[in-house]
Amino acid sequence: MSVSVLVGSQWGDEGKGKIVDILSDRYDIVARYQGGANAGHTIVIGDTEYILHLIPSGILREGRECVIGNGVVIDPNALLDEIKFLEEHGINIEGRLFISQNAHLIMPYHKILDSIRESGDNKIGTTGRGIGPCYIDKYDRKGIRIVDLLNKKILEEKIRANLEEKNNIIKKLYDKEELDVDAIVKEYLAFDEAIDQYITDVPSYLDAAIRDGKSVLMEGAQGALLDVDHGTYPYVTSSHPTSGGACTGVGIPPTQVTSVIGIVKAYVTRVGLGPFPTELHGEKGEQLRQWGHEFGATTGRPRRCGWFDTFLLNYSRMINGISKVAITKLDVLSNLDEIKVCIGYELNGKRLHSFPTSVDILDKVKPIYETLPGWKTDITEIRNYYDLPAETKNYLGFISEKSGFEISIISVGPKRSQTIEL
Ligand code: GDP
Ligand code: IMO
Ligand code: MG
Repeated sequence: MSVSVLVGSQWGDEGKGKIVDILSDRYDIVARYQGGANAGHTIVIGDTEYILHLIPSGILREGRECVIGNGVVIDPNALLDEIKFLEEHGINIEGRLFISQNAHLIMPYHKILDSIRESGDNKIGTTGRGIGPCYIDKYDRKGIRIVDLLNKKILEEKIRANLEEKNNIIKKLYDKEELDVDAIVKEYLAFDEAIDQYITDVPSYLDAAIRDGKSVLMEGAQGALLDVDHGTYPYVTSSHPTSGGACTGVGIPPTQVTSVIGIVKAYVTRVGLGPFPTELHGEKGEQLRQWGHEFGATTGRPRRCGWFDTFLLNYSRMINGISKVAITKLDVLSNLDEIKVCIGYELNGKRLHSFPTSVDILDKVKPIYETLPGWKTDITEIRNYYDLPAETKNYLGFISEKSGFEISIISVGPKRSQTIEL
């Protein structure tokens, strides 16, 4: 029996989708635990590229069961689009998708409030998917949940009550057009028909599965540094991508978790605003962006790129309790003569002992680098660790030692086959 948590260890887009797809071969159930359609998880199988936003990446493995946990915020339109997309690609989800009745629904006003706030002075650079406003309503105990779809009277009452308040804000505070209450009630009443068959008491389902000896992989979205508590606040998402969020996000108790797998990109990227000490500006950053095709899978925005940061990774390893790491996109560094690795931060000439999450400090720190030789060889066809160039092994050894993690998977390309297991 194994219950593992898979976390993004940096600022998201580490290649979680690809690694979940690889690992789901050896798990019975894959369960998403937080975030929403702000995520974009890419899986390449043969010549087909799949980008999933809400449904766990395990859905592409025949026979695997997939769960969307209570910690996820669900945009029903995005969910139905994704189900349709999978069906069009011949993926049968019947009897394989289980959606928590406690998950909250993204409403049209969440997306509008997200975009209004992003047009003001306190920008975060969100994905505009309504994530923050939906989690605000959840914690304000005003949210509308999947379970509400099962009772038309309650659903209508809750939508009307919410809209009365939200329309006031939209009109009076922001001077924007009010939303049509009846149209939204009608739209959401119709979702029940489409989603009903998937609605599940997820904790009971998972408890029974684990008792039956089934294994579960809990799939995180975003990354540790985007965690609302442990990330670079306020430039974070509104949920808990860190491993601690997995248990509350699906309803599996911490005592069941057997391992935490960290997904680590061989360099660092970030989308949206916020501090990024090892960011490469100018030509070098642009080169990494082009080589790594670093454009958002959800919004298409260019991702900011920078050197690997072992100081950040040490922090991420600590707060997530990472036991094993899958390192991705190593092939992207193959053109470089030299590769820099950040081994610590300095502030006003003094070396820091712990990772600061205060953005004021992070904006001012100076990374301390060591420079390693590049390997200047195409590694995308290599399938055995021992066949990697000496400089590549040196790079892997250096970053794993400085970050304190053990590498168990190396990804050298987007495809399933471009994977080295240790
Ligand atoms: P996620 O959000 O963590 O699932 O990551 P994304 O899917 O947003 O971004 C990762 C991108 O890198 C996708 O386009 C993947 O197809 C691609 N990718 C994943 N692993 C590798 C790799 O080892 N090498 C290269 N070149 N691309 C990769
Ligand atoms: P995956 O799962 C990278 C970032 C946004 C923004 C901040 C808040 O594909 O790794 P939000 O819309 O969540 O309120 O935006 O978080 N962000 C991501 N960055 N990968 C993601 O998901 C992200 N999801 C949100 O760019 O900076
Ligand atoms: Mg992504």
